[in-house]
Amino acid sequence: MSRSNIVLESLDPHHSSLGQSERAWWKSAIIYQIYPISFFDSNGDGLGDLNGIYSKLDYLRDLGVDILWLSPIYKSPLADMGYDIADYYSTDPRYGTLGDWDRLTKGVHDRGMKLVMDLVVNHTSDEHDWFTQSRSSKDHPKRNWYVWRPGKLSTDGVGRPPNNWRSVFQGPAWDYDEATDEYYLHLYLTKQPDLNWDNEEVRESVYKMMKFWLDRGCDGFRMDVINLLSKTDGLPDAPVVDENDPTQPAPMHYANGPRVHEYIKEMNQKVLSHYDIFTVGEAPFSHSADDLAEYALPQNKELKTIFQFELMDIDSSDPLEPLIPKPWKLSDLKNVVEKWQTFKREEGFWNTIFIENHDQSRVVSRFGNDSEEWRSYSAKLFALLVVSQGGTLFIYQGQELGLKNFPESWGLEEYKDAATINFWNRFKERRTAEAKLGEEIDMSDVMKALQRKARDHSRVPMPWTADPHAGFTTGTPWMRVNDDYAQGWNVEAQLGNKTSVYAFYRHVLGYRKKSDLLVHGDFRVIERYRDHPQVFAFLRTFGPTTAVVLLNFGQEQVTLALEDTDVSPNIVEFAELALDNYRDLDTNTEPGREVLHASVILEGYQGKIFVK
Ligand code: GLC
Ligand code: CA
Repeated sequence: MSRSNIVLESLDPHHSSLGQSERAWWKSAIIYQIYPISFFDSNGDGLGDLNGIYSKLDYLRDLGVDILWLSPIYKSPLADMGYDIADYYSTDPRYGTLGDWDRLTKGVHDRGMKLVMDLVVNHTSDEHDWFTQSRSSKDHPKRNWYVWRPGKLSTDGVGRPPNNWRSVFQGPAWDYDEATDEYYLHLYLTKQPDLNWDNEEVRESVYKMMKFWLDRGCDGFRMDVINLLSKTDGLPDAPVVDENDPTQPAPMHYANGPRVHEYIKEMNQKVLSHYDIFTVGEAPFSHSADDLAEYALPQNKELKTIFQFELMDIDSSDPLEPLIPKPWKLSDLKNVVEKWQTFKREEGFWNTIFIENHDQSRVVSRFGNDSEEWRSYSAKLFALLVVSQGGTLFIYQGQELGLKNFPESWGLEEYKDAATINFWNRFKERRTAEAKLGEEIDMSDVMKALQRKARDHSRVPMPWTADPHAGFTTGTPWMRVNDDYAQGWNVEAQLGNKTSVYAFYRHVLGYRKKSDLLVHGDFRVIERYRDHPQVFAFLRTFGPTTAVVLLNFGQEQVTLALEDTDVSPNIVEFAELALDNYRDLDTNTEPGREVLHASVILEGYQGKIFVK
C-alpha cells in the first residue's frame, strides 16, 4: 500500500495549501479541558465555579488555548462528579447560574476562543425527573425511558439481577427497585441509570436539549461514553471469565453495540449537521481501530473525531480494570502512537491527541519521571511528544504546569472518587471474607495501585499561587491541594519563570498552531531506532517540509547516528533545531542556529525537533 498524503482533492502535494475541509478550525485547535470543581473558586465555598473560570480566561488565552472543554456543570448530586446529571437545562447552583454561563461564553468568544460542553447521555442521575417518573410505576409513560427488567428467580428463591453484567464501577450493573419489583440497568454507579436509546422519545429529548445549548452559544460537545448507547438485543449474559464472582465483564454487549451508529447518524442529521461545531466522542473499552473509526470517518457523517484509549490502557491489566496496573514498556507507547498516527489517513480519519484527562493520573508520575531532578524535563518531553503528533490536541488543566500525582503519604481519606472507593472496598471485602478469624488483611498492593493510577490525582485543585490552598479558594477546598504548590508548582511562579514547564508549553503550543507540518503531516518511524528501549524517533512530512523528532524517555544520555537511515541526506546538515526542552526560552539569550548533524546527543529526558 502506498503511503498516502493527506486526503483532499484540492491538496497540492508540493505545497502546504490545504483545502477548506482539511483546514477545519478544530483540527489545528488547542483544546483545554477544565474540571470545573477544581479550577478556581470565586466565592470561597471551596468549589470551583463558572465565575472562577471566567476570571482566568486571559490566562487560558495567553497559554494559546483555542477551545475550552468544560467537564459537566449541569445540576447534579455529584455522585460521579457531574457525570450524573439531574437536569440538563440548568447549571448546578454550586457552579453558578445560566446567566454566569452566558457571561462565561461571551468572555470566551470575545477572546476569540470557543466553548465545548460535556454531553452525558448514556445515563442520567437517579435524581433526574425522568428517572423519578420512570421508577414511579410500570405504566408510567416514561417507564420505557430507562432499561427495566424483572429479576431472575434462582433455585434458592432469592431474586437475582436479569443478567450477569458487571458495572464499570464494580458490582452488578443492575439495581433492584422495590417500588415496582424490577431492576434497572446502570453501567456505572447505581446513581447513574442508563437511558434507553432504543426509545425514540429519549433520543428526541436529547436532541432538543443539544439544540438548547448550541442555540445559546455552545460550540460543540465532548460526548461521554458515546459508544455505549446501544446494548445487545435481549441483554444476554456475558461469558464467565471470573468464576469467583457472580458478575462478569460485558463490554461485548454494550460497547459499539448493534444500533449505535444508527443513533449517532440520526443525531448528526437532526442536530450536529446544522451547526459549525466540534464534536468528539469518548469511546472506551475497545481497541479495534476499524470499529472506532466508524464514528469519525467523514463519509459516515457522525462525529468529527473520537477519544480512543489504547495508549491510556498500556499500563492497565485490562481496559475495564484501569486501577490494576501492568508494567509498560516504551515500545508499547511507540506502537500505539504509530498505529493511530498512520491509520486510515487516506480516508480522512482524524486523531485526537491527549495524555491526561480527569480520568487519568498525572503523566509525569505515570509514564515520566516525577523526581525533583527530572520532573520538569520529563513534563516538557511529554509536551514535545504531544505537539509533534498529528490530530487535534487536548491539554488537561495543570498538565501545562507539570503537575504530578499527590504524595504516597496521603491516606485513603484524601481519595474522593466513587470509583476509587468502590475498588478499595471490593478488595477489602474479598480479602476479609477469605481471611481467617482475627487475621490482618494486607491492602498495601491496592494502595500502591491507587497511588499510581487513581483518578483522584488529576482532580485536586489547580494551584494558582503560593498562598494557602494554592490560591484556589479563600475557604476550605473540597479536595486537599497537592503539597508541592509552594515550591514553584503553581501558575504565578511559573508565569514569572522562563524555564518553567508552563513557559515551555506556551512556546510549543504557539509553534504547533502555526505548523501544518505538525498538525497535518504524515508520520514515519525512523526504522533504525524502532526497537530502541529509550528513544522514540520519527519523521513528520508535509509537502516539501520535514520534521525529525528525537525523544529520549530515559535518564541516560544517548547518541543517535542518522546516516543511512530514513532521514534523507538532504535533511541532515540542513534541518534546523525548532524545539528543544533543554533550550533556554529567554528571548535575551536567543540560542545560535543549530543544524541537525548525523550524530545527535540527547541528554536524559531530552527531546529535540529539527525542521526543514
Ligand atoms: C466517562 C467520564 C468519567 C465518568 C464516566 C461515566 O468515562 O469521563 O469521568 O465517570 O464516563 O459517566
Ligand atoms: Ca465556588
